Amino acid sequence: MSDSLLAALTAAVGPAHVLSDPELRAGYERDWTGRWRGDALAVVRPADTAQVSAVLTACAAHDAVIVPQGGNTGLVGGGVPRPGGRQVVLSSARLNRVGEVARASAQLSAGAGVTLATAQRAARDAGLELGLDLAARDSATLGGLAACDAGGLRALRHGTARRQVAGLEAVLADGSVIRRMSGLLKDNAGYDLTGLLVGSEGTLGVITAVRWSLIARRDARAVALVALDSIAEAVTLMRTLRPALPSLEVCELMGRTGIRLTLAHLGEASPLPDCAAAVLLECAATSDPLDELATALDAAGAGERAVVAADASGRERLLRLREAHTDAVAAAGVPHKLDVGIPLERLAEFADRLDGVVADAAPGSRLVVWGHLGDGNLHVNVLGPAPGEDAVDARVLELAVACGGTVSAEHGIGVHKVAALRLSRSAAELHAMRAVKRALDPTGILNPGVGLDPRDGVTDVIPATGGCDIS
Ligand code: MLT
Ligand code: ZN
Repeated sequence: MSDSLLAALTAAVGPAHVLSDPELRAGYERDWTGRWRGDALAVVRPADTAQVSAVLTACAAHDAVIVPQGGNTGLVGGGVPRPGGRQVVLSSARLNRVGEVARASAQLSAGAGVTLATAQRAARDAGLELGLDLAARDSATLGGLAACDAGGLRALRHGTARRQVAGLEAVLADGSVIRRMSGLLKDNAGYDLTGLLVGSEGTLGVITAVRWSLIARRDARAVALVALDSIAEAVTLMRTLRPALPSLEVCELMGRTGIRLTLAHLGEASPLPDCAAAVLLECAATSDPLDELATALDAAGAGERAVVAADASGRERLLRLREAHTDAVAAAGVPHKLDVGIPLERLAEFADRLDGVVADAAPGSRLVVWGHLGDGNLHVNVLGPAPGEDAVDARVLELAVACGGTVSAEHGIGVHKVAALRLSRSAAELHAMRAVKRALDPTGILNPGVGLDPRDGVTDVIPATGGCDIS
């Protein structure tokens, strides 16, 4: 790193928070799956919004770019540097102040570096709940979750981050700060910049604080795990149960390979007989939803194939089997992770065709499938191909689109799916996205290489095409 950039970053955040030693940088340069890694000139850890702005100004002046990083729990390489280049990782670790919970509006203000688990605790202490939850809660940060429009296990009921972020503060590429933290329920003055930054993966601004909408606590819970013969059967069950269970909050799918791998990883016995697929359900209400859940399962003809837990340890055991899939697959190798969204009507067809597509593109590989069934969001994990061999990735994403789905449901585009974005977005949409990127980040200082390829071959003049087909 040049002495003058080092001096400018040091002036911005102080010497203790500019990490240039390779050993200190290492944990920030590699994602936790081991698939994505790169090199940073330095890692900086600003303590407040003014310091974030000063870092951006210093990088702009020294021809360096910024890679924003939260808890480094991303799965598409968007939060770690790319190989080569003049990149500075901007860690949100010190933007970790938990602000007030506004009870009247049920909103929590917090620094971008506050972890999900910390925010969940703050919400509960105030008698409320955070509607987003996922297994990486101890590391994943609110800023990162907003930047990726994260979903998790409870999106079925509460929506993804996009629905929950009531406002945010961010530093733009020119160092200016936008602050939409008032939490007004109604404020339609001009463009929705909060909405624009949610899901922008650090390419339009560095999120420094968020205002998160909370929900009422529903402490009475019941969990069921149902053994099924196929993914098609799982889809049918879900479609039957959903209207019958207003308290349904979690509806997850696990395939046989993932269940076996995860049980072995946890060293636990299976709560179910061997099955091709299992569906995990959780109902949450203010009064015990166990009867409602059991009645709905019986009515759907699934009661005898279900194990049910109402006590906390039993519920946690069943939920752990689902949540530990990520760790289990990572312990077995460096997975190719494809996070696709499929319309429920075609999810069984996708699952049927998937085996053949994966066997063809990556012979001898191991396919592990699980996901958020209620959201039509499957996590397709392929173990076997080397990290750089991405033929199988392309084929799975093409299949998702052929089945009417999307190449990214909740993990984002990152560096992984930049080329695939055009499968899910039209030329006109890509054109608009590139225009937004150019307008907000004209020099390309923010997370270049992530999300959108500015040279993706889409022509600048987009012919008008047909309108909305609602037939
Ligand atoms: C999950 O739902 O398990 C997460 O999105 C993480 C993963 O896909 O590994
Ligand atoms: Zn997920």
